[in-house]
Amino acid sequence: MNKFIPALFLFAFGLIAEAQEITSPDKNLTLKFSLIQNGVPSYELNYKNKPVIKSSKLGIETKDIPSFLDGFTIAKVENTTFDESWNPVWGEQKTIRNHYTELLVTLAQKSVKDRIIKVRFRLFNDGLGFRYEFPEQENLTYFVIKEERSQFALAGDHKAFWLPGDFDTQEYSTVTSNLSEVRGKMKEAVTPNASQQTFSDTGLQTPLMMKSKDGLYINIHEAALVDYSCMHLELDDKNMVLNAFLTPDAVGDKGYMQAPTQSPWRTIVVSDKAADILASKLILNLNEPTKYEDVSWIKPVKYVGVWWEMITGKSSWAYNDMTSVKLGELDYSKTKPNGKHAANTAHVKEYIDFASKHGFDAVLVEGWNEGWEDWFGKSKDYVFDFVTPYPDFDVKELHRYAASKGVKMMMHHETSGSIRNYERHMDKAYQFMVANGYNSVKSGYVGDIIPRGEYHYGQWANNHYLYAITKAAEYKIMVNAHEAVRPTGLSRTYPNLIGNEAARGTEYEAFGGNNADHTTILPFTRLMGGPMDYTPGIFQTKVSAYNPDNNSFVHTTLVKQLALYVTMYSPLQMAADLPETYNKHLDAFQFIKDVAIDWDETNILEAEPGDYITIARKAKGKNEWFIGGITDENARVGNINFDFLPKGKTYEVIIYADGKDAHYEKNPQSYAIKKMKVTSKTNLKQQMAPGGGFAISIKEVVK
Ligand code: NOJ
Ligand code: CA
Repeated sequence: MNKFIPALFLFAFGLIAEAQEITSPDKNLTLKFSLIQNGVPSYELNYKNKPVIKSSKLGIETKDIPSFLDGFTIAKVENTTFDESWNPVWGEQKTIRNHYTELLVTLAQKSVKDRIIKVRFRLFNDGLGFRYEFPEQENLTYFVIKEERSQFALAGDHKAFWLPGDFDTQEYSTVTSNLSEVRGKMKEAVTPNASQQTFSDTGLQTPLMMKSKDGLYINIHEAALVDYSCMHLELDDKNMVLNAFLTPDAVGDKGYMQAPTQSPWRTIVVSDKAADILASKLILNLNEPTKYEDVSWIKPVKYVGVWWEMITGKSSWAYNDMTSVKLGELDYSKTKPNGKHAANTAHVKEYIDFASKHGFDAVLVEGWNEGWEDWFGKSKDYVFDFVTPYPDFDVKELHRYAASKGVKMMMHHETSGSIRNYERHMDKAYQFMVANGYNSVKSGYVGDIIPRGEYHYGQWANNHYLYAITKAAEYKIMVNAHEAVRPTGLSRTYPNLIGNEAARGTEYEAFGGNNADHTTILPFTRLMGGPMDYTPGIFQTKVSAYNPDNNSFVHTTLVKQLALYVTMYSPLQMAADLPETYNKHLDAFQFIKDVAIDWDETNILEAEPGDYITIARKAKGKNEWFIGGITDENARVGNINFDFLPKGKTYEVIIYADGKDAHYEKNPQSYAIKKMKVTSKTNLKQQMAPGGGFAISIKEVVK
């Protein structure tokens, strides 16, 4: 007999309780679902008897059919548990446990005959995920979402680490304030961007990290954002309720749905320890297992690139100084080169030599293709074709040369937001990559989306990003998409999505700077959904050393740049500075060469959002460990307990530390490197300079 029949049977006799409760496997979390007045679905979440989410409404407002908001009765309740371990293709740990209690509630609406929806809750030890499901049925096929009405009623005026809600960008500096202060601080928080669309004085982005007065760390985001609009949060600051606010499309609609279908998961990660938030795998667990049969071609990548020299303004992406060019109509070889074009064959070979000498996997080259003269900020549809190199960039020769040196080339596709144009050229662009030895692409979506009116985070653009990823997989190409929607754990399903930007990256250090606490926050916010191509490794922290007209400086010490390879998890890591600079600091550069980019284990040793993070990780398949510790603008002592190391053995460690007089503004390049031996019993106190950190590599002593 079907095990769900008893519930149905009970309901027929009016016996299904209007409130349903489940607890997490460790019993710390309790989720209560109930129908409140007028049959409105609601939920509540408690952690160790403290309220995390107070009674909050659920529902979807539709445009063309009766909304899924009220008048519901519970038609069926299904309770299950699940416990399974799986191995990601790449990741922070070799094995991930997916262990939860599930409550699946089927809801019927009295007013709409024979129509049901389901709400599925998964309660893990580290938080809750829930989503709406719309089964295939006679009375429900197509519908248009006006707004998702999910609420997150908070238990207080929490401290929040927030970014302005924006349909196009999250390249903002994080503001740390109480939620009640958001409204007053919003204007200042909205700094200019190539494409931006804010929507409210209290609109916020996810992942939203919060800390309650009684010490609960709460993170709200989403998982498995597929064929749906990205969710923002609109704060009702009178009642401290966060309301879901979906990204609209060009005509204001928020989602085109066809049953059977479902919403993404809404996620609430919670703990009384900040480290648990960073260790959470809830978002990955809520995504589907990989859809690819063969994943052997997907490999973590450590790369260098012809990049920072353009970002700083030392060189240019463009070949000439014309202010208007038309693809296919201009013979570039007849134009006057500007003398600053970095992506030329001889110069790229220098990067290939450097990459090869120091064991890097790949070399990214930006500005290799025609069209960069007027790509930025124009309403230009046909801006790049992704297959036509500038006259000084010899694709075939570079392919040959790189291959002879054991280095891969990394492609760059800047679309300048012209998604339609990119899709038109995509097959040819990927074929060109395969033909010329490129197995990964950094793509980008700078500027307003073309077609106009669509936003970077709407359903239409989201479908494009996923199309680009799955299409790339057909060619065994890995994708690192910049300015695309923030990740939601989809790399579990599509592991060739090896990187994303979707936040304020290192490039902003050359555009005025990132706050000294920036990277102590990002792992709690942006990185919750997936890895970021943060592009660390800047040793020459004064940008004026490359471009006298640029007075920006990097807001970290040199050593903190090393630590970021461990604290900012990514299977794709760039050594972003120029070879000429690394050649001056080969002793410190050694850490970037040594550090792993794929891991068996991760231990969060210490963490507090906005203040400090120390993480130890074990390299995949090797008896090597790496530790990164970072602090904000304040000097601090990191406490490193080596008890994560296997017992009874001795290890040799190299410590890359801030110099005694180091300071991110006054003396960023001061560092000291020392060696020592440790065992699993060692405790180490390590001083960090203001804006500094430390990096440690650990190897077993082989006798
Ligand atoms: C923005 C990206 O984040 C950056 O890395 C890239 O160099 C530029 N767009 C140009 O595509
Ligand atoms: Ca701080």
